[in-house]
Amino acid sequence: MKKILIVNGPNLNLLGKREPEIYGAQSFDDYLNLLRKKYEGRLQIDYFQSNSEGELVTKLQDAGFSAIDGIVLNAGAYTHTSLAMADAISAVKVPVVEVHISNVFRREEFRHHSYLSPVCAGTIVGFGLKSYDLALEAFL
Ligand code: DQA
Repeated sequence: MKKILIVNGPNLNLLGKREPEIYGAQSFDDYLNLLRKKYEGRLQIDYFQSNSEGELVTKLQDAGFSAIDGIVLNAGAYTHTSLAMADAISAVKVPVVEVHISNVFRREEFRHHSYLSPVCAGTIVGFGLKSYDLALEAFL
């Protein structure tokens, strides 16, 4: 069975409450339960969320040299600012798939650039929470 870690960055702990017209009405915990059920027996899905850039870098470092098959990463706004996260993704061996819930290209211009996309294995953007599901499929 493959092991995947989902990493969520800042403000994604507020899913379900935060701007539901953009990010939907479902909490991530509820969605994660559905994903774990859907992939039962095929994927072991671990989860980490932090609002802190340093904690996210440390988690990428630790998980990125561990015996897992992939990381699904929604870095939130750090996507558009964080060279430290980009360097961590470059440094590690485990492939990282970048996901975004909203279609960042339809939104403000500052969301159009990602420091992470060039160092990720792939990017899935704009399918709501389903973006995470599609990233898991990519690892299968
Ligand atoms: C996001 C898009 C980012 O621009 C934003 O800062 C987020 C969420 C998304 O999943 O659509 O926090 O990563």
